[in-house]
Amino acid sequence: MTEHRQALETTAGEMVAEGKGLLAADESNATMTKRLEEVGVESTPESRVHFRELLVTTPGAGEQISGVILYDETIRQSSSDGVLFPEFLSGLGMIPGIKVDTGAKPLAGASGEKVTEGLDGLRDRLEEYRELGARFSKWRAVIAMGDGLPSRRAIAVNAHALARYAALCQEAGIVPIVEPEVLMDGDHDIERAQEVTGDTLRAVFAELVDQGVLLEGIVLKPNMVLAGYDRSEQPTVEEVAQRTLGLFRRVVPAAVPGITFLSGGQTDELASARLSAMNALGGVPWELSFSYGRALQATPLAEWGGDESKAESAQAVFAHRARCNGEARHGRYTEDMEQSLAA
Ligand code: 13P
Repeated sequence: MTEHRQALETTAGEMVAEGKGLLAADESNATMTKRLEEVGVESTPESRVHFRELLVTTPGAGEQISGVILYDETIRQSSSDGVLFPEFLSGLGMIPGIKVDTGAKPLAGASGEKVTEGLDGLRDRLEEYRELGARFSKWRAVIAMGDGLPSRRAIAVNAHALARYAALCQEAGIVPIVEPEVLMDGDHDIERAQEVTGDTLRAVFAELVDQGVLLEGIVLKPNMVLAGYDRSEQPTVEEVAQRTLGLFRRVVPAAVPGITFLSGGQTDELASARLSAMNALGGVPWELSFSYGRALQATPLAEWGGDESKAESAQAVFAHRARCNGEARHGRYTEDMEQSLAA
């Protein structure tokens, strides 16, 4: 790990460079098939790489997108002019990353809870991904909330696995995105979300430290602290920002260079507004950035819908979302920005 210290810190810094964030385009083939079919597009290796190429070749996207998280299939595919995807991304000024977990599976003996798998053989897979050009990686743990959930066990096993993954990545010179996602499904209030997110982050950082992970060489990808999606009343943007940062100040070490939030099913506008509100509050030691999947991709995907005559307008929609989130990095996103695309 110390061998790669400088490279890890440099890459992590580039991932959360000023005004920039990550595009999460690492949907598994099953998830991507669902997303494509929802807009009437047949899912094939070609259609999957084609849509991803459409996004990343959006003119100007490199101004807000520092890196792209790929799935195992995509990192081995080529662009339409035959350039291997990681090299293609680097040519566009975006850092190639790779999702390396193999999914959240039911946790033995725990009803409704999951543990993320993928540690077996990970050292060898990381070596291969690094040769393919990956400079960072992602592992997503999911923590479900509900009656009596999460259990201490679910938090503990996921935190342990995240740290084992992170240590292996750093050994290979790859920056680990550490993603403990507390799911916002359910009808819990924001206080409960804050408590569970806090329990989870405390456990994750304890494991990272115990396992010798260099905190300066990771990127944290957490959920924002929100009320459960089933609640009719949602907290204000300001309250989400206050509670999220209030908690993070207590549990996320200042050595961590950046926090890239996931969007987790929030609307495009709220994902931008809440990130912007946090950056406007400021006074924190980390970069506050984004690593959005749905909040960057869903609108352009619907706009494209497999119709090549819509490719340019889909790119315009993507550029708009990237710009909104780029502005949110500076605390400057406003609802008025949403009108500028329509105009
Ligand atoms: P969402 O922004 O759609 O939650 O996806 C981000 C991600 O990569 C989750 O692992």
